[in-house]
Amino acid sequence: MKLTIALLAGDGIGPEVIDQAVKVSDAVAKKFNHEIEWKPALTGAAAIDAVGEPYPDETHQICTNADAVLFGAIGHPKFDNDPSAKVRPEQGLLKMRQKLGLFANVRPTFTFPSLIDKSPLKRDRIEGTDLIILRELTGGVYFGERGRLNHGNTAFDTMTYHRFEIERLAKKGFEMAMKRNKKLCCVDKANVLEASRLWRETVQAMEKEYPEVEVSYEFVDAVAMRLIQWPKGYDVIITANLFGDILTDEASVISGSMGLMPSSSLGSEVSLYEPIHGSYPQAAGKDIANPLATVLSAAMMFDDFGLAKEAQAIRDVVNKSLDQGVVTEDLADGGKACKTSEVGDWLAKNL
Ligand code: IPM
Ligand code: MN
Repeated sequence: MKLTIALLAGDGIGPEVIDQAVKVSDAVAKKFNHEIEWKPALTGAAAIDAVGEPYPDETHQICTNADAVLFGAIGHPKFDNDPSAKVRPEQGLLKMRQKLGLFANVRPTFTFPSLIDKSPLKRDRIEGTDLIILRELTGGVYFGERGRLNHGNTAFDTMTYHRFEIERLAKKGFEMAMKRNKKLCCVDKANVLEASRLWRETVQAMEKEYPEVEVSYEFVDAVAMRLIQWPKGYDVIITANLFGDILTDEASVISGSMGLMPSSSLGSEVSLYEPIHGSYPQAAGKDIANPLATVLSAAMMFDDFGLAKEAQAIRDVVNKSLDQGVVTEDLADGGKACKTSEVGDWLAKNL
């Protein structure tokens, strides 16, 4: 297969972790006789510095012409503490999600056999966890009306959802559940929010189309507790943009490190693959960040191309590296830590 992949390294540790995903993807391509053409493009603070815009049109063109987008991370501290900044790197990510129509963010949570004891949670609670949080990605409070009133002394952000936005996400959730353990949990705050009541109403109306799927409805505050208390109780969770953002960081604790969790963002056309972690500016340029979340995001990409063996080869070699202690400092537990680039080299070589 010949694949053209847009490569958006972004900010902070983005370029370093992306480099490792490229090494590993190229090694897979070589092994299975595929050809990958990488198309690098600017995004985030790097793009603001270069062209004054966090998601330039040229980058969008490159993305829409590609078979997939592989993305690193976005964000730079120089913008975080400046509330008056007119352009922010994160706007690039949001604009990209919106312009590419990436409404469904798939964030799986699973455990790695050799890392179970790295999690602060007890083994019997987490071993065998296998759930997917399907986060709505182009609506809700992230994209609702916002602004200031009262001479700047009042601020508002609006959570707005349209029925079609909930339907298309829930449809993906039902379809995923059908291929898995046939359980779907709609997570909302319907005891308070009108938008959440529309979520419930919409999902309830779809239940009859999927009679085999066992559907439950839970409030997000309770799920924040149950998710780490008994993650094995969940199969597919569907939830709004902000709730999904928060719950997926929480869920990463189950796996042992934020540096491990991959994601895909799906729409109707090109899909995007990215680690769930941020740009980790404290580590930028030090060659210490964990590249596995990005490498595993590349595995999700191969899976979506229908290349299951290739995806599995990546997961296998990642597990092998963890078993053998070829890990970055976040997982080294005071033992020998490898550099980001060393982990990438090892994975590519041992694939
Ligand atoms: C994520 C990130 C982003 C989000 C930020 C960087 C805008 O936290 O992908 O989870 O909130 O969606
Ligand atoms: Mn987040």
